[in-house]
Amino acid sequence: MSKPKVLVTRPLFPEARAILDERFDVEYWTQADRISRGELLRRVADKDALVCLLTEKADDELLAAAPKLRIVATVSVGYDNIDVPACTRRKVVATHTPGVLDETTADFAWTLLMAVARRLVEGDAWMRSGAWPGWDLDQLLGGDVWGKTLGIIGFGRIGRGVARRAQGFQMRILYHDQARVPLDAERELHAEFADRDRLLRESDFVTLHVPLLPETRHLISTEAFEKMKRTAYLINTSRGPVVDEAALAEALDRKKIAGAALDVYEHEPKVHPALVARKDVILAPHIASATVETRTKMAVMAATNAAALFEGRRPPNALNADALGL
Ligand code: GLV
Repeated sequence: MSKPKVLVTRPLFPEARAILDERFDVEYWTQADRISRGELLRRVADKDALVCLLTEKADDELLAAAPKLRIVATVSVGYDNIDVPACTRRKVVATHTPGVLDETTADFAWTLLMAVARRLVEGDAWMRSGAWPGWDLDQLLGGDVWGKTLGIIGFGRIGRGVARRAQGFQMRILYHDQARVPLDAERELHAEFADRDRLLRESDFVTLHVPLLPETRHLISTEAFEKMKRTAYLINTSRGPVVDEAALAEALDRKKIAGAALDVYEHEPKVHPALVARKDVILAPHIASATVETRTKMAVMAATNAAALFEGRRPPNALNADALGL
C-alpha cells in the first residue's frame, strides 16, 4: 500500500524526520529561502498532510488547493497562521505544539526583561565600538529589576512560568487574564489578579503572554502607554500585532515609558523603522523558543501529530478534534 504524502516546509531535525520518513512519502522544502506562497500551493496540491511553520498560512485558499489534505500540523504553539474554522469545514485536522516551549519562552522573556532594564545591548555595542572610555559613575544607568512590580498579561503556562522566575527577584506580581486562576495557583506564585488598567498603572515591567485573537490585536496601544509608568518597560514575546508598533515608537519618543524589548513584530519580518532607530528598544528575531532542545521537541510533536492521524489515532494536539468528532 502506498504511503500517505506529506509536504514539510523545512527539513526539521533528524528526530522528527525519522518519524515522518518511516510513515510517509515525504517532500521536504530544503532550500535556504523559505517556501514561497506559489510553491506552497503548488506542492501541497497532491498531499495528504502538511507540516508547516508559523510563517506559512494555512487558509481557505490553501485548503482549496489541496483536496486530499487531512491534516495541517504547525511547528508552533501559536496557530494564528491556521484558519481553524476553515480546516473544520473541510474536515482537515489542525494541530500545534503546546506545552514543550513554555519554560524556554519564559526564560527568554526574562532574558529580554533583564537586558532592556540593564541596557546590555547598548553596552555591548559601546564596547565593540572601541569608544568606551572606562568606568564612570553615571554610565548606562538602567532600572532595578529586583523588588519591582511585574505585570503579566496572559497568565497561561508561559505567563505563569515568567511569574515563577520572578520569585527569586523578590518582585510583586500582578497578572491579568480573562479569568482568575485558582487561588492555590495565585498563592503559590504570589501573584495578584488586577484589571488591565491597574496592572498598566502599577507595573514597572509589563510582559505579554496572550495569543493573537481579534480581541488582543493592539491590546497595547496609545491608551495603554498613557497609563503606564514613565519608568516602565514593555516586553513582548507573544505575537507582534498585540502591540501597536507606531504607538510604541511614539510613546518612547514622548518618554511615556522607559523602554521596550520585542521578540515579535506586527509585520514580520519587517520592523517599524522608528523602532529600528531607537536605542531604548531591544529587537530580537522571534527566537523565544529557539533552543536546540525545545525546537527539536516542537518538530517531533508536529511530526507525531501527523503520524497519529494516519495510524488511526487522534492527533494528541488537535485544535479541532471535538468539532471533527475525533
Ligand atoms: C512561536 O512563536 C510559537 O508560536 O511557537
